[in-house]
Amino acid sequence: MNDDWICGRLGEDEPWLMGAVNPPVFENSIFSFETVGDLAGALKDEDENYIYWRGTNPTVDLAQRKLAALERAERAKCFGSGMGAISATISSLVSSGDHVLVLGAIYGPTTQFLRYLEKYGVTHTHVTDLAAADSAVMPSTRLLYFESPSYMAYELFDIPAVTGWARSRGIVTVMDNTWSTPLFQKPLTMGVDLVLHSLSKYIGGHSDLVGGVVCGSAVLVRPIARTEYMLYGAAMSPHDAAKVIKGLRTLPVRMAAHQERGLAVARFLEGHPAVRSVNHPGLPAHPGHDLAARQLSGYSSLFSFVLDTDDRDQVSKFLDHLRHFRIAVSWGGFESLAIGPALSIEESVRTTMGIPIGLVRLAVGLEPADTLIDDLSGALETFIA
Ligand SMILES: Cc1ncc(COP(=O)(O)O)c(C=O)c1O
Repeated sequence: MNDDWICGRLGEDEPWLMGAVNPPVFENSIFSFETVGDLAGALKDEDENYIYWRGTNPTVDLAQRKLAALERAERAKCFGSGMGAISATISSLVSSGDHVLVLGAIYGPTTQFLRYLEKYGVTHTHVTDLAAADSAVMPSTRLLYFESPSYMAYELFDIPAVTGWARSRGIVTVMDNTWSTPLFQKPLTMGVDLVLHSLSKYIGGHSDLVGGVVCGSAVLVRPIARTEYMLYGAAMSPHDAAKVIKGLRTLPVRMAAHQERGLAVARFLEGHPAVRSVNHPGLPAHPGHDLAARQLSGYSSLFSFVLDTDDRDQVSKFLDHLRHFRIAVSWGGFESLAIGPALSIEESVRTTMGIPIGLVRLAVGLEPADTLIDDLSGALETFIA
């Protein structure tokens, strides 16, 4: 058993005041100094000293230490949302005239942010594999951005191969590791330079938090903490940091339960006549299953499957028939959710992303697998009828 299974305590070296098992939440926005000289000294390392909560705060700092320990990072910086972390990280790495390579399908708003950067002269190209990256790479390519498993399709990339390719060309790699959590995949140990998470998903785990984090070497994280974090103002609040700390205390047991239930549901769907395919890397039939065995130490419970139809009304009917799965965006909480992406995104985006009309994304929660399978089974029967 490695340290991660006690991540409830990871990064917390000191006993808390009066034997409290939880750290106090520092609710204050400002910290005072004895002398003008003390304040001036603290301001020199603004990102490391407690001055004002838009910079940092002891509770946020503790959440950062715990996340860094779990992700095997030298340093982590928490933000007020996953997009806050993503936009600050990309902004920190690129300048006008730079080019970004995007490998595989990524979270939609991340692509939107890259499009937004075009007005500052930063361009990007989407590629599906390293052979295509070979053709698309330019002397101005500064950054390679990816997710593994990829967004909605759950395609796996060979992370050491990707980072080796980028490193030999002097390109920085940034990976969104939200799907796996740092418990099940540690991209920094496979050569990725910076790792991002939306903390709003499994790490928060209770659908009551929006947050993000960037993890990596001090050399790369510190400039983000000193510049983009301070200037964009997407700060994490101490209350949200306390929720991150609380989420980490139960992350290993929650993820074990998510994994078990997700796999049980995926196996049920795989054998159903109304289902064309199931995109879950834990299934032996998944094209990335061997890679998953090398790179992942577990599977989260977000995956998709394709209903045997190309009719949007049939997909709506199926979703509306579900009683236990709720229809909602986001994922990673205790509750099971379902969504039909083709029903809510623009047709041009759907075809570019290669999302079939019948694709349904499930976020399997912590309810008993039998309850969830019964629910899906009932909705699939109406679908066939
Ligand atoms: C893979 C992935 N990355 C990043 C984000 C953005 O995180 P947030 O909603 O916390 O800004 C999301 C949100 O759905 C996501 O699914």
